[in-house]
Amino acid sequence: MKSSASLRGKIVFVTGGSGGLGKAISQALAAKGAHVTIFARREGPLADAKSEIQKFISEPSQEIRAVAIDLSDASKVDEAFRAQPRMADALYCVAGGNHAENGFLVDIKASDLENCMRNNYYSAAFPAKALLNIWTEDDAKKASGAPRANPRLRQIVFVSSAAAFLGLPGSIAYTRFYLEQDTKTPLTKRMQGTDCSIAELESRYPTSAKVASQIIAAVGNGEFIICKDSMAASLLFTNMIGPSPKRGLGIADSLLGWLVGWFVWPVLRRRWEAMCREDGEELGRVRGQ
Ligand SMILES: NC(=O)c1ccc[n+]([C@@H]2O[C@H](COP(=O)([O-])OP(=O)(O)OC[C@H]3O[C@@H](n4cnc5c(N)ncnc54)[C@H](OP(=O)(O)O)[C@@H]3O)[C@@H](O)[C@H]2O)c1
Repeated sequence: MKSSASLRGKIVFVTGGSGGLGKAISQALAAKGAHVTIFARREGPLADAKSEIQKFISEPSQEIRAVAIDLSDASKVDEAFRAQPRMADALYCVAGGNHAENGFLVDIKASDLENCMRNNYYSAAFPAKALLNIWTEDDAKKASGAPRANPRLRQIVFVSSAAAFLGLPGSIAYTRFYLEQDTKTPLTKRMQGTDCSIAELESRYPTSAKVASQIIAAVGNGEFIICKDSMAASLLFTNMIGPSPKRGLGIADSLLGWLVGWFVWPVLRRRWEAMCREDGEELGRVRGQ
């Protein structure tokens, strides 16, 4: 699918637009001329983010709106989307994060798992479903029988960490990358290679603003899978590709998937299994088992 890169005058909803990557995406969209509506739970950060995004608009007619809502409530999401003065052309699902849910399954609470699903899975699935329903109803109203020559392009973009491709012990829920460092288990940090200072991590990983502009540019080019600026994310994706669409001609993804499956995972598997055993023995000693 090739899409138009122009965002001028487009209406874009951004979930999680009051923080981190959602705010950076909203700012980048506003700078490209889009009307942006952000959705999150807390009023204070929403109001602050709204004024910060407002500073990026390129035309006075652009509208920046903020809606306080818990996106894990399906009926509220549907109601809030339908109550907006204009229907969205695109939806960026960026809400997420769980600071409290890091840890081994044995240590975290069942309610932590529920929160994790609410704030990461339902907060993306419900807005996507609500908007799809609204779009479908709109199309049905306008349909005159014959299919339209130029169907209207609408886009839903799901954002997640590359950690979604990789289940690591102690990383039940991916959280805000730097914030999570203080609740992540030492084993998880060692396996991820993140057992270093925040300053070192910041020098290693791109900023939210950079990630945001890469995502928007790739969405504008009609890309389905976006693993920008990270060879590690690309390698993980190629090995978990399943029936997902491949990037470009697909040949690079096929070759990388083969390479990773045959040569990288066998080494990592042995290494990580040994690390898990050592950590388990150490924890057993500490907990007196
Ligand atoms: N930051 C980056 O550069 C980066 C890079 C790659 C991928 N990502 C991915 O982007 C996603 C967000 O990360 P982040 O770093 O931007 O996190 P963040 O700074 O903690 O922001 C999370 C946003 O989601 C909102 N939110 C969370 N649960 C919600 C709910 N139930 N209903 C409504 N809003 C909710 C939060 O607002 P309230 O708490 O007020 O609701 C906040 O606006 C994660 O999946 C992360 O893996 C981020």
